[in-house]
Amino acid sequence: YRKIGVLISGRGSNLAALIEACQTPDYPAEIAVVISNRPGAPGLQFAESAGIPTQVIDHKHFASRTDFDRALDDALRAAGAELVCNAGFMRLLTPEFVQLWRDRQLNIHPSLLPAFRGLDTHERAIASGVRISGCTVHFVRAEMDEGPIVAQAAVPVLPGDDAEALAARVLRAEHQLYPWAVRLVASGAAWVEDDRVVYAPDVPQPEGVT
Ligand code: GAR
Repeated sequence: YRKIGVLISGRGSNLAALIEACQTPDYPAEIAVVISNRPGAPGLQFAESAGIPTQVIDHKHFASRTDFDRALDDALRAAGAELVCNAGFMRLLTPEFVQLWRDRQLNIHPSLLPAFRGLDTHERAIASGVRISGCTVHFVRAEMDEGPIVAQAAVPVLPGDDAEALAARVLRAEHQLYPWAVRLVASGAAWVEDDRVVYAPDVPQPEGVT
C-alpha cells in the first residue's frame, strides 16, 4: 500500500507525525490526500505546508451518514488511496464504508485497547486508577475503537496526573507509534488473517516506545 489517505477532524498532530515519516528516505508510503470533515481543521495546514492535496468533506452538508461516507470513499479513490489512516477522525463510519476498506483502514486511539474505548479516554483512565495507559493502532471495524491490533505503546500514569498531563504523555507515544505501525502495514510486514494481525518474521520493535 504505497498511497495513503489520511482522515482528520481537528488538530492533526498525528497527521504531522505521518507527514514527517513519509518525508524520510525509504519510508514505504506517501500521503495522497488529507480529508477533514471539519472546515478549518488546524491539521489541514500541516498538509498544505507539505504540498499534500487536502479536501474538506463537511458531514453537515450530507443528508445521511451513507451519503457522507460515499463522498469520502469517492474522494479517497479519486486520490488513488490504497490505505486509509484515521488520525483524530471523530466520525463513526457506516458498516458499508468499513467493509469497503476492510483490512485497509487504520485508526489510532489513545488507550491500551480494549480498555477505554470512545471519548474522554484519559479522564476515565485516571478515574479507574490504572497505572499504565498508552495508545493503540488497529484496523478499523464497524464498532467504535474495535479491530485487529497492529501495535501498542505503554506510558505510565503518574501520581498527580490530570487528563491533560496524561494526554500529552500518550500523544508523544502516538507520534512514534503511528508512523511505525503504518510502515509495517504499508510495507506488507503486518496484515490481517482470521481477524488478527500477523507479522512477517523479524519484525522490529518500535523505536522509543516500549
Ligand atoms: C489523538 O489523541 C487520537 O488518538 C485521538 O484524538 C487525538 C487526535 O489528535 N483519537 C481518538 O480519540 C479516536 N477515538 P491529533 O488531531 O492531534 O492527531
